Amino acid sequence: MTDQSFDLKSLLAERDTEAFALHERYMNPQMPRILRTIGFDADYVRAEGAYLFDRDGRRYLDFLSGFGVFALGRCHPGIEQALRDAMDLALPNLVQMECAPLSGLLAEALVRRMPDDDYRCFFTNSGAESVETAIKYARCATGKGRVLFADHAFHGLTMGALSLNGAHEFRDRFGALLPGCQSVPFGDLFALERELVAGDVAAYAVEPIQGKGVFVAPDGYLRAAADLCHRHGALLVVDEVQTGLGRSGTFFAFEQSDVVPDIVTIAKALSGGYVPVGAVIAKGDVVERVFDKMDRAVVHSSTFGQNVLGMTAGLATLHFLDAESIVERASTVGTALMSGLESVKQRHELVHEVRGRGLMIGIEFSRPRSMRLRAQWTLLESMRTGLFTQMVIVPLFRDHGILSQVAGDHQNVLKILPPLITTHEQANEFVDAIDDVLGELERSLGLLWGVGSSLALPALRARR
Ligand SMILES: Cc1ncc(COP(=O)(O)O)c(C=O)c1O
Repeated sequence: MTDQSFDLKSLLAERDTEAFALHERYMNPQMPRILRTIGFDADYVRAEGAYLFDRDGRRYLDFLSGFGVFALGRCHPGIEQALRDAMDLALPNLVQMECAPLSGLLAEALVRRMPDDDYRCFFTNSGAESVETAIKYARCATGKGRVLFADHAFHGLTMGALSLNGAHEFRDRFGALLPGCQSVPFGDLFALERELVAGDVAAYAVEPIQGKGVFVAPDGYLRAAADLCHRHGALLVVDEVQTGLGRSGTFFAFEQSDVVPDIVTIAKALSGGYVPVGAVIAKGDVVERVFDKMDRAVVHSSTFGQNVLGMTAGLATLHFLDAESIVERASTVGTALMSGLESVKQRHELVHEVRGRGLMIGIEFSRPRSMRLRAQWTLLESMRTGLFTQMVIVPLFRDHGILSQVAGDHQNVLKILPPLITTHEQANEFVDAIDDVLGELERSLGLLWGVGSSLALPALRARR
C-alpha cells in the first residue's frame, strides 16, 4: 500500500537546499540573480520574533518584516494557537451563501477603530485587492470616473492599483492602464484642487506616509485634502496597507491628521504573518450605494475574502496588538530609534535626513560636502542613482546581520520597517550598526569603489 501521508518535514529536509535552483528554473530567475549579486542569498531555515536564522545558525535582525507584514514578529505563539484552534474546530469555511460569524466579528472590531461607527467592511486577499475595491467603490458611489493619486505613490501592482502608481519603472511596458487616473504632487493642495475643480473625480487615493521614499504627509495635508475632496464631490481614500495597525505609532496613521476618511484600505499586518488578508473599511453610504438592492448583493465579492483562517488571523492580530500594547511600543521604540539615528546624522555628513513615524523610518543620503567624499559619491551616482544606499544595506546585512532595504528605485533612501515588537536593545543594535557601516564607508574609499562597481555592473548589463 502506498503511504498516503504528506510529510512536510521530510520534504523540506530532502529538498530545501535546492531552493535557489528551483527558483532559477521554475520562477522569476532575476530574483536569485539579484540576491546573489548583493550577497543576500542566505538560506533561512527558521524564524522567531524579530529574527531569522540561517542553516549555519546565524541570526539576522529582520528590519524588513516581510515589507511590513510581521507587526507582531514571526511565529507569534498566540496567532499560531488561534489558527490551530480554528482548524481543530472544523469550522464551515467559505460556504459563500452564508453570514459567517468570524468575518462579522472582524468587521465589527475594525469599525470600532474608526473615528465613528458609520463604516462597513469588505475583506480581500491582499493590499492591491483592497485598493482595487476602493477604486470600484469610489467610482460606483460617486458615479464619476477619474481617480487621483500622488507622485511616488505605491498602491500595489494589479492593473487598477498600478494605474495609481507614481513610478514609471513599475508602469512601463504593461500597456494601457485605467483611463482617468492622474497624479498630483504629494503635499500640494493647490495641485489637488486644480484636478478636483472639474467635478469629475471619484477619489483621491493617498498613503499617509509614502512607502516609496518614506515621505510623510505634511501637517494638515490629509485633513485639507479631505475637505477639498468633499467640496468637489470626491472621496478621500487613505491607503493604510503599510502604515496601518500601529506601524506609524497610532493604530491608523491618519489618526495623527485628525481626518475622517471615506475609505481606508489595509492588509499586510492584519494577516498576523500567516494568512493573506486585507480589508476595505468604507463609509456606510458608500457601501450602501454599491450594494443598493438585493440583486446587487454580489456585484463585488472575492471567493477567499472571508476565509476562516484569514479572519482568525485578523482577530487574533487585533487582540494581541491590544494585549501586548504593541501600538504604544511602536511609538516609544520608534521615537528612541529616530533620535538615535538623528545622532548618527550628526556624525556622518552623508546622512541628509532621517524621517518617518513610529517604526516606519527612512534615512536619506545625499552628496557630501567634503571634497574627498564628494568625488566618490558623484562617481557612484553616475553609475546608478541610489547605488550608495545599496552599499549601506549590503554591509549592514553581511557584517551586522541586519536586513533592510532601499526605499525605492533611483532613491538614496534606506528604509526600515522593523517588527512592532522591536525592543530598545534591537533598535540600538541598528543605530550602532549603521554608525559603524557609514564610518567604515567613509574611511575606506577604495572599498567603496570595489563594492559599488560589483553592484553597478549587473544593473548596467541588465539595462542593455
Ligand atoms: C500602501 C500600499 N498599498 C498597497 C500595497 C499592495 O499590497 P500587496 O502587495 O499586498 O498587494 C502596498 C504594498 O507594499 C502598499 O505599501
